[in-house]
Amino acid sequence: MTTPTLDRTSGTTSILSLRGVTKSFGAVAALTDISLDVAAGEVVAIVGDNGAGKSTLVKILSGVHLPDAGTIEFDARPVSIPNPTSALNLGIATVFQDLALCDNLNVIENLFLGQELRPARLDDIAMEVRSWELLRQLSAKIPSVRIPIASLSGGQRQTVAIARSLLGDPKVIILDEPTAALGVAQTAEVLNLVERLRERGLGVIMISHNMADVQAVADRVVVLRLGRNNGDYKVGTVTPEEIIAAITGATDNAVTRRTSQVDLRSIQPTTLPDGTTEPAEYPTDKEVDR
Ligand SMILES: Nc1ncnc2c1ncn2[C@@H]1O[C@H](COP(=O)(O)OP(=O)(O)OP(=O)(O)O)[C@@H](O)[C@H]1O
Ligand SMILES: [Mg+2]
Repeated sequence: MTTPTLDRTSGTTSILSLRGVTKSFGAVAALTDISLDVAAGEVVAIVGDNGAGKSTLVKILSGVHLPDAGTIEFDARPVSIPNPTSALNLGIATVFQDLALCDNLNVIENLFLGQELRPARLDDIAMEVRSWELLRQLSAKIPSVRIPIASLSGGQRQTVAIARSLLGDPKVIILDEPTAALGVAQTAEVLNLVERLRERGLGVIMISHNMADVQAVADRVVVLRLGRNNGDYKVGTVTPEEIIAAITGATDNAVTRRTSQVDLRSIQPTTLPDGTTEPAEYPTDKEVDR
């Protein structure tokens, strides 16, 4: 691939750096030879079609899955992330798409769930003060921290989930489809929040299907296609059409252009021009040549 990738030689210090990350589930190659760099104070959007490997990548970074191969560097040190606790201890927080909030508990209770200050005797006032502090830093529009989560809007819930992940003082925060279920105003609120995270110097990884959101808030957009890197663009130098072409494979060679039209499960072995055969389970993607 000839598209630019931030790396240690480019002068930009990555807080998180992946090389050659590969993960299979049985015969399914979910990720193959993935590179990813995220710098402090940078918002990197990861985009890709269904099954492109986005969630698998998030799960590797959050300690849900171990990669089969490849290296992960965090703060310039090689690390392994064998479980979710080790991800948090390193400073990688993930806000999963389902948010994992408890509807019947209020904002404070959700923020401190499982990590109450002074577990033996909950310090209500300290938790309330800390809650307001956090929400204020995020410019969050939450009417009260004593109301149940069930009565908040989707954007407000997303805010609470993000605020909760900040309690561990992470260096990298991963947001999985943070605006997927939101209306226009709530989306704007969450995108503002992403900007606050960048201002705080966090590295932000945002999974998204929405080109408008990506263009509005991301510094860089990384395209995954069929489990491989298929483009790494600086936002502002790329059009939504170019990104979509990389997502769908419209800019790939004829073989992948043909396979992109069909359901992955129906793909048969493909004979390539050089006479080799690609596996039926997972056609090798050809990188965008641009
Ligand atoms: N636990 C698993 N067991 C078996 N196959 C899996 C597992 N998790 C993911 N896969 C497969 O790996 C590939 C990548 O899936 P992944 O969920 O990472 O894609 P995605 O980009 O998040 O897609 P979507 O946009 O639909 O959420 C898919 O072919 C999927 O079926
Ligand atoms: Mg997914």
